[in-house]
Amino acid sequence: MKTDILKLLRESESYVSGQQLCEHFGVSRTAIWKVMQQLKEEGYQIEAVRNKGYRITEVPDIMTREELESRISGNTKWAGQCLYVYAETDSTNIRAKQLGETGAPHGTLVLADRQSAGRGRRGRNWESPEGCSVYMSILLRPEFTPDKASMLTLVMAYSVAKALKGCTGLDVQIKWPNDIVINGKKLVGILTEMSTEIDYINHVVVGVGINVNTEIFPEEIADRATSLRNECGYKIQRSVIVAEVMNQFEQDYEMFLKKKDLSWLREKYNQLLVNCKKEVVIHGAAEPYSAYALGINNTGELLVRLEDGSVEAVYAGEVSVRGMFGYV
Ligand code: BTN
Repeated sequence: MKTDILKLLRESESYVSGQQLCEHFGVSRTAIWKVMQQLKEEGYQIEAVRNKGYRITEVPDIMTREELESRISGNTKWAGQCLYVYAETDSTNIRAKQLGETGAPHGTLVLADRQSAGRGRRGRNWESPEGCSVYMSILLRPEFTPDKASMLTLVMAYSVAKALKGCTGLDVQIKWPNDIVINGKKLVGILTEMSTEIDYINHVVVGVGINVNTEIFPEEIADRATSLRNECGYKIQRSVIVAEVMNQFEQDYEMFLKKKDLSWLREKYNQLLVNCKKEVVIHGAAEPYSAYALGINNTGELLVRLEDGSVEAVYAGEVSVRGMFGYV
């Protein structure tokens, strides 16, 4: 009921009468009043006017189940419809993988306000302080073969880039394969993990960390990390970002299922690619080497032209690609 009241209040242009709410939910006025008190305690500013009813005037940036559910529920068919929300957990990827083992449905979304052991790619940590960022992991149960799973990371990067542009107007870019950057600094990281048999995927977990309202970063990453707030100059509602990512990702995932490759997003992804048509340095198992980035192919590899004029496809799992002068 709290989720639905929240949604009703937010979507209503004028006051919602107490009587209307009682009838809608079949409960007493006291029950409605209690929900309003709880919402106020959580930080919602709710105006109550005699003979008119209730009206929401301010929504706090909180990651509660009701706040998230009220944003996602009517927006998607399966992405985020089953929701696990934690004030704190070790890592939403770990939680989602466990849920994957115990039969949770395709599209289950795990969110946390804080992670005590947030994980990045290549065994790195992901700084996950409370109250300012999005830490979320979606559980997928694809019916394609394991060799296609790495493309999901690029699909998610594309979805997140569109969602962030839509919510903030910022011209974010993608640093292949899966970072979202702006003004040379990292805004978003994506970590995809999968459980497979030889030719069968049990499940895939795509974890997304978005720096939303972070103002100060730890010294080690301060020169290459930024947040939406730092870039826009104002605070952003995290639940709105989560809902829009789910909305975009559901559509993009369905397109991916239809086409079975990235041909449908290749051009648009390449337009967002920060290093496209630039010299890059490829750091892999062997010595780093420089090349000219041409953009991704239909399976998500980065095509690069080497000094001798030959074109090579770089596979995301093996390397990190950097600009000539630093992170981007
Ligand atoms: C990277 O190294 O760029 C990937 C970072 C991925 C971080 C996210 S936050 C939500 C999810 N849970 C984790 O422990 N990691 C991912």
